[in-house]
Amino acid sequence: MAGQKTDFINEYCSHTHTCGQLRAADVDAEVVLNGWVWHNRDHGGLIFLDVRDRAGYTQCVIDPDCVSADDFSQAEHLGREWVVEVRGTVRARMADAINPNMETGEIEVVASALTVLNASVTPPFSIEDGIETDEITRMKWRYLDIRRPEMMENLMLRHTVAQAMRSSLNSRGFLEIETPILTKSTPEGARDYIVPSRPNPGKFYALPQSPQLLKQMLMVAGLERYYQIARCFRDEDLRADRQPEFTQVDIEMSFVEQDDVMALMEDAMAEVFAAVGAKHTFPLPRMEYSESMNRFGNDRPDTRFGMELVDLTDVVKDCGFKVFSAVAQSGGTVKAINARGAGDWSRGEVEKLADIAAENGAKGMAWIAFTSDGQEKSPIIKFFSDEEFAALKTAVDAAPGDLILFAADTYEVASAVLSALRLHMADALDVKRAGHALLWVVNFPMFKYDEAEKRYAAEHHPFTRMPDEDVDRIESAPLECGSYSYDLIMDGFEIGGGTIRIHEPDLQRRVLQRIGLTDEQIDEKFGYLMEALSLGAPPHGGIALGLDRLVMLLARKDSIRDVIAFPKTSSGSCPMTGAPDAISVKQLKEVNLHGL
Ligand code: AMO
Ligand code: AMP
Repeated sequence: MAGQKTDFINEYCSHTHTCGQLRAADVDAEVVLNGWVWHNRDHGGLIFLDVRDRAGYTQCVIDPDCVSADDFSQAEHLGREWVVEVRGTVRARMADAINPNMETGEIEVVASALTVLNASVTPPFSIEDGIETDEITRMKWRYLDIRRPEMMENLMLRHTVAQAMRSSLNSRGFLEIETPILTKSTPEGARDYIVPSRPNPGKFYALPQSPQLLKQMLMVAGLERYYQIARCFRDEDLRADRQPEFTQVDIEMSFVEQDDVMALMEDAMAEVFAAVGAKHTFPLPRMEYSESMNRFGNDRPDTRFGMELVDLTDVVKDCGFKVFSAVAQSGGTVKAINARGAGDWSRGEVEKLADIAAENGAKGMAWIAFTSDGQEKSPIIKFFSDEEFAALKTAVDAAPGDLILFAADTYEVASAVLSALRLHMADALDVKRAGHALLWVVNFPMFKYDEAEKRYAAEHHPFTRMPDEDVDRIESAPLECGSYSYDLIMDGFEIGGGTIRIHEPDLQRRVLQRIGLTDEQIDEKFGYLMEALSLGAPPHGGIALGLDRLVMLLARKDSIRDVIAFPKTSSGSCPMTGAPDAISVKQLKEVNLHGL
């Protein structure tokens, strides 16, 4: 397992070396290995065992001339995943038996004794990389899944990232401080997990969606620089990059401005990248939220490839295709992407893309295909004059082999539709996305309008500060308020987000009122915050990094479940332990929940 230092695990245990450690220089050494029988082969009287541990594997030879008859007979009956101890001597392999693909491929261990430490029944799936076993099965026997080298490497990488982050923050005067898990609700936009309190009938703790307000309290306490590798709990719809409990590297600092927090984060990220051998140049580029929405249709742009959104609203506003001109003239947006390389797709294949558009709110999906032999196919060309069509072609830079996909709707819907189509087409066309792309998206709006709840809501969270010139707009023009906010984006994922906080009680109250809370509700939910802000709160700000997502991207996996030891399924359950589970009437009574 490249890059992981494992020789120290030979202390305080019964083996002398790990299974990934022995090299040609160790020939003739007397060694003891402990591990799992990975592969075993009987070669006409000689038995070859690959013994595996977390550091790698070593070939061991059981020769009837070198071990007792009992040991040899045991070796003949070994099964996969039995736990063994092999004592023996390191021998150089014959030239034609050297395995350059194996770290210990120059040597083998000729056993003098074999001890079975434990037998194993046949595992439900094979302990190999690249298996196609369904994920629920892997999760039910997670300890076997983790024995697979690729999973083991993911967890080692996670450890390296967490330690690099810790060491980088430690060296800059940050204090690692834990905050409670049994706490009061902090709104991060998801539903809370709740825990009944036995001595307080009818009262509940909430598990923290993040330590947001607690870390702000630590700043009021004067600790100045805090971090925590914090577990967060959010009851929300799960996706490949979302788990109900996940881990943040949570950071807060006093007497800082936005640039300070961002610079600190970049320095820490540079150290993490160096620790895991990943490459990126720092400082990182910054993009305005509005630019990200315009060019990529979302606030977490994958900038490693083009296919950017093109605004055609002006180009089509007087055209003969009524769907476009009506939207353009009524304040909506008409946009398109140019999916280079899909111009020869069949009509059926193209029409299927409309499902993706519809899932994201589109009422239809117009398209124009420019085939590589110079033809133009589309249900809508007939509505355009020659001049209009020429202007359209220029705007999207159309050439033979291109497929243009359109969205005509509100700005928000058109953005969401084309953002989804862009990512889908990049996958479908196997567009290369080499390396990593990190950047900041900055200056999010402070508020958004929540159509479902018919009220304003905070775009990040309501503890976020805004530029002084926007303070007067909180009541009169909330959607025009900017904010001191910054998201760290990597390869099209939001891996971190933070803000400068409000440290004045009056301003905090106005923002909470703006999102629909009454003074009573503010005092009931956030009384302790309001009080703390009135007792000498310093200016402060911070950020939280999604550790699972960062490690997933560094490991080049598609799901954060692959970098979490014991993840949950998409319905929030754990197939190994059976959680969540029913509880007894007695337990329900104890917490005053029986009969509700
Ligand atoms: P935010 O809600 O943006 O900010 O969360 C910070 C980062 O945590 C990660 N993340 C998740 N990872 C896995 N599963 C989830 N369900 C999940 N939800 C979020 C993301 C995200 O960028 N208190 C603020 C931070 C601050 O202002 O300092 C907060 O929690 O990578
Ligand atoms: P229609 O005239 O409704 O049959 O639509 C002609 C083409 O325009 C079809 O390919 C539709 O999918 C597409 N279309 C309809 N509404 C929209 C819209 N809002 N945005 C993009 N394309 C649309």
